[in-house]
Amino acid sequence: MNYLNFFEVNDNSLYLDNRNLPDLAKKYGTPIIVYSKRKIVENVQKILTAFGADTISIHFSVKSNYNPTILRILKELEVGIDAANLNEVELAIKVGISPEKIIATPNNLSKKELEAISEKGVKINFDDINQMKLIKDHLPKVVSYRINPGIGKGEFEGIVTGGKGSKFGMPADAAVEAYRAAKDNGCKEFGIHMMTGSNVLDPSFFKESSKLFFSIAERISKDVGIEFEFLDLGGSLGVPYRQNEEELDIKAVAKNILTNFQESQSRGFFKQSRLIVEPGRFIIANAAVLLSTVTNIKEYDEIIVGTDASMNSLLRIPLYGAVHPLIVANRATEDLVETGKVTGQVCENTDVMFKSIQLPRVKVGDTIAILNAGAYVMSMSSNYNLLKRPTELLLDGQKETIIKREETLDDMLVTFVIPP
Ligand SMILES: Cc1ncc(COP(=O)(O)O)c(C=O)c1O
Repeated sequence: MNYLNFFEVNDNSLYLDNRNLPDLAKKYGTPIIVYSKRKIVENVQKILTAFGADTISIHFSVKSNYNPTILRILKELEVGIDAANLNEVELAIKVGISPEKIIATPNNLSKKELEAISEKGVKINFDDINQMKLIKDHLPKVVSYRINPGIGKGEFEGIVTGGKGSKFGMPADAAVEAYRAAKDNGCKEFGIHMMTGSNVLDPSFFKESSKLFFSIAERISKDVGIEFEFLDLGGSLGVPYRQNEEELDIKAVAKNILTNFQESQSRGFFKQSRLIVEPGRFIIANAAVLLSTVTNIKEYDEIIVGTDASMNSLLRIPLYGAVHPLIVANRATEDLVETGKVTGQVCENTDVMFKSIQLPRVKVGDTIAILNAGAYVMSMSSNYNLLKRPTELLLDGQKETIIKREETLDDMLVTFVIPP
């Protein structure tokens, strides 16, 4: 995929929503993540169109991006929330999302945390029977479990969350027992959930995983004698990060899932069930670009371009070996005449955005655009080396709004006791 297709290019510069990105970098300072509201709306619309708005409910995965303004935009689009813990639930409620539109999928939470989530009126996908039993006197109205359907897929091992060896969910046999226990405990409404991995670009995987998922749900429904209010297929919808990858065929994904769903319905199952997806990456990754400034250029054996965006903001790179597309935003149409590394300011040799990338002739002061910066970038960032995390800017038509201001040293030290 040619990433320049994602942007407008004018006079050698990259534009997003009619803004010259190098100019924005100068105006607001770097590092900065620039979001396009238009792209967010488009991405949500793509899912609704592929599945049919009456067929699917979208629950945005807050772990991919928890900027409150982004969550408010999604609320306005009537998108629900996938939350991992009490803090994510509370933030969603703070931005005005109603508890009925929030589903929590927690892992290893304490009784106190689970009870607090349940008391908010939020649905819970319990990770196993023990987590349900911990709060059996305070269960949510709808009880759901996370199933491990026996397969998983993700761009990196670290983001495969289903299949053998996964720490998440439970196998079908254990699930039958877990639903029975919830029913014996007086529970009358049920859901079922899976999340098998992240950043999947192959539509056929969704065919395979949803078939397994629906057949496990059918078995539970039959054996335990319950109906499912919702069938939650998790996230996983991928976006391309490399030149040789194509965009996910979301229509094919929807068709694969819906065909399996309709087959179950034709066997008499899930007549009243709602399908849910919990995308994070698909909605927000390509709606944002991280801008940084070239601060140094070294040339010995190879060119090393130093910038002010570092691995503290791009943990995905050292953590998984992830790559993000990168364009020199003020030299977008120049010939790629140099090969080198692009690095940041952290004192680690893993702080390398690109190990070997072809670049135009770069100069100090140039603007580097790192694409797909909306998902798992800010939400996974840290202040390692006391480096500031990026500022965040939202483009919405003619409006430019800072949605996370520049961090200061005082911000980073706010929870510390400074000895007098
Ligand atoms: C339970 C759950 N749902 C949804 C998601 C979102 O996944 P993605 O960003 O691949 O759509 C995740 C991500 O790890 C998750 O753990």
